[in-house]
Amino acid sequence: MLVLSAVIAYLIGSISFSTLIGRWFGKIDIREHGSGNAGATNTLRVLGARYAIIVLLADIAKGVVAVLLAQALGGGNPWVTYLSALAVIVGHNWPIYFGFRGGKGVATTIGVLLILMPKSLLTACLVAVILIAITRYVSLGALVLAVLTPIAGIVYHGGTGKVVLAVVVGVLTIWRHRKNIHRLLHGQEHRVFSK
Ligand code: G3P
Repeated sequence: MLVLSAVIAYLIGSISFSTLIGRWFGKIDIREHGSGNAGATNTLRVLGARYAIIVLLADIAKGVVAVLLAQALGGGNPWVTYLSALAVIVGHNWPIYFGFRGGKGVATTIGVLLILMPKSLLTACLVAVILIAITRYVSLGALVLAVLTPIAGIVYHGGTGKVVLAVVVGVLTIWRHRKNIHRLLHGQEHRVFSK
C-alpha cells in the first residue's frame, strides 16, 4: 500500500494545472513565459488573476486529495501518508506528463499541510501573506512559509513525524527557489502586481 499510494499521489501531483490552463486558455506554454515556472504566481504574471486563482486552488487541491487518499488507503499508517505527501509535491515539481518540468511545489505543499498540520500552516501563512502584501515578492512569502511552518509545528506538536515531513518539504521548497533567492539577494526578483 505504501508504494501504490505514493505512485497514485505522484500521478495526481503530475497534473500541471498551470501548464494545462496556459495551453487551453492562453495558447502558450507557461514555462516559456515570465519566470518560466509552472505555478500560480507565474500564471498571475502571464495570464492574470482569474486563471491564477484557478491554478492556486487546483494545485492546493492536489495536495489535499493525495493526503486524504493516502490516509484512506494506508488505514492510518503515517508512513503511507508522509511518503504520499512527499510524492504529490515531487509530482508537481517534476510531472511525468509534462517532461518533468513543473513548479516549485508551494501550493501543493499548502494542500498537504492543510490536512496534516493546519494550525502550524495557517500561522505561517498569516506571516507570509502579510510579507507578500508589503513586498509584493511571492517567493519571499513562500520561503518564509517553508521556514516558519516547521517551527510552528515544533511549537504546537513537538518533534513528531509530520514536523519532520514539514522540514523535508520546506527544504525542497527552498531548494526549488534557489534562483529566486539569488534574484532576491541581488534586488532582481520580479514583484507581483508591479506596474
Ligand atoms: O510558488 C512560486 C513562487 O514562490 C515564485 O514563483 O514564478 O516568481 O518564480 P516565480
